[in-house]
Formats: sequence, C-alpha cells, structure tokens
Amino acid sequence: MSRRAQISPSLLSADFARLADDLAKIDKAADWAHVDIMDNHFVPNLTLGLPVVEAMLKVTDLPIDCHLMIEDPDRWAPAYAEAGAKSVTFHIEAAAAPIRLARDLRAAGARAGMALKPATPVEPYFDLFGEIDMLLVMTVEPGFGGQSFLDVVLPKLRRCAEAIRGRELDVWLQVDGGVSAETIERCAEAGADVFVAGSAVYGKDDPAAAIEGLRAQASKVLSA
Ligand code: DX5
Ligand code: ZN
Repeated sequence: MSRRAQISPSLLSADFARLADDLAKIDKAADWAHVDIMDNHFVPNLTLGLPVVEAMLKVTDLPIDCHLMIEDPDRWAPAYAEAGAKSVTFHIEAAAAPIRLARDLRAAGARAGMALKPATPVEPYFDLFGEIDMLLVMTVEPGFGGQSFLDVVLPKLRRCAEAIRGRELDVWLQVDGGVSAETIERCAEAGADVFVAGSAVYGKDDPAAAIEGLRAQASKVLSA
C-alpha cells in the first residue's frame, strides 16, 4: 500500500497567462500538476476546461491531476482521461452514476478519483472504494484558493484512511484546500498521502523549494 508522500501543486494559484512557465517551475520537484476545473455551476467560480488542459499536456512531462468541480461529470470527465490526464477526479455530489463513471475513467487509461466536499459524509460510499484509485477529501469548500484549512474535516479523513486500510485497498487519500507547512502534518497524521497545495507553493518565491519542504514534512510523519 502506498504511504509515500506525494505533492500535487495546484495551478489555480499560478499565473494563468504563463501556465507553461509556472509548470516548468515545479516540474522537477512535484509528483503531479493539479488542475482545478470549475464550471460556475457546481462551484461559484469559473476557471478553465479541456482545451487548456490539452495545451498544458503538450508543454509538461508532469502527470496531470484533474479535479473536476463541475456538474454532470458523467458527461464531461472521460474526455479529460482520453486527452491524457493521468488522474481524473469527479465530485460524488455531482455524479449520477459514479461506478460507471469510475470504470469509464479507468478504461480510458486514467486513475479514477472521487471527491467529497467538507460536509459530505463518506460512509455511504465505502463500498465504492474498490472502484477508485484515489479519494479526495476537500479541506475547504471548493471554489477558491487561499482559504483556511478546515480542521473539522480531520475526523472524516481518519475514517477514510481506516476504511481503506480495513479493505486492504491501494486507494490514495488526497487532501485539497489550505494545505501548507502549518497543516500538512495534521493531514498526514490523519492518513492522507497525496497533498494538493496552491498558495503554499505558488505564493512562495521558490515553488520547487516549497514543494520539497512540504514533502519532507509529510514524509517524516508517514515514515514514523
Ligand atoms: C479549491 C481547489 C484547490 C485550491 C487549493 O477549490 O480545489 O485545489 O487551488 O488552494 P490552496 O492550497 O491555496 O488552498
Ligand atoms: Zn483542487
């Protein structure tokens, strides 16, 4: 089971006019490039879509980790996998047929991710864990970067980690929102192993050094 700490910097905090440059700043240090797709319906913000992801895929060797904060992921998500995104995460609150969708994503060659907003209970979805490669537990309300970490989500994160371990599944546990040097150790202690960080990476003068620092903090906890 993977307990290696992986860092997936969020391009939401990058300069959208210089995405290629900002991808290059992290390409040696990051494990993934996290791309937040928002449709102004599922969340009150609008970012980018498939054409921009396709353009990013052409200029980076980093695997792309798409986080779809959109309505009707059943219809839109598989195209991101077909385009070459190595991980595609949909929100369970928006999916009509999550099992079929997860299977479609895997069939298209991506890792299938399922995301939960902070107030969405995980218990109804335990039996779906065998269908997914990653569970994303949001630690802020999705929609914007730079928000404060919600400690109230930590007990759910712990229950997710226990449920994954109990089923002996190789499902990665991702946290997204307010992850920083101040909060990453709490996330790792609760069982997360993939860490999204936007402002804590791109808000720093040296994004690559920020990534190395975050990974070192998380690795220390995971190997303890
Ligand atoms: C928020 C996005 C996050 C966001 C995180 O809805 O899903 O990926 O970029 O930004 P920080 O790390 O600044 O909270
Ligand atoms: Zn995200």
